[in-house]
Amino acid sequence: MSTRPYVIDEMISAKSIAARIEDLCREIQKEYEGTDKLIVVGLLRGSFVFIADLVRELDLPIEVDFLEASSYGDGMESSREVRILKDLRGAIEGRDVLVVEDIVDTGHTLNHVTHLLESRLPARLKSIALLDKPSRREVDFKASWTGFEIPDEFVVGYGIDFAQRNRNLPFIGKVRFTEAE
Ligand code: IMP
Repeated sequence: MSTRPYVIDEMISAKSIAARIEDLCREIQKEYEGTDKLIVVGLLRGSFVFIADLVRELDLPIEVDFLEASSYGDGMESSREVRILKDLRGAIEGRDVLVVEDIVDTGHTLNHVTHLLESRLPARLKSIALLDKPSRREVDFKASWTGFEIPDEFVVGYGIDFAQRNRNLPFIGKVRFTEAE
């Protein structure tokens, strides 16, 4: 899909992200101390960079699984109706589950996914989002841990895309269009 020309202004540096992940992992580690049944579930595709850095910072015995839910498609607006495109490989009943998401925006995606996973009777279900845009919320949802609260800007990088592009940027940047619509 072609888009209007845009530039990307850095919003959160790779260094700040790494430092925040270290802090978050210290908290997560405390929460799960002594457990040997944690499954870390990445929501595809936006969380793939975040989950890779997160799990390498965690000194815990974990398993990793992935789930894909539909969200923005190729545009800039949330679809609101959430569909599961790829389900977990394993069962989670009686297990500790940590869902990893890139951004909580309207809240529909994580709200839907956590309700779905709750129905499978995990021992404990928690979630972590790298970014949160609280001003955009449409459903009452708060992740157990959040990396950074950001304003209502469209962001890319560190796994997050605009029309499937810019996922490979090492930092989080905001999209700024250089031509009027
Ligand atoms: P929600 O269901 O509205 O909370 O949306 C969550 C999903 O929308 C995220 O996992 C992202 O895939 C996508 N999303 C939300 N905000 C942005 C953004 O600023 N840039 C790119 N994708 C976004």
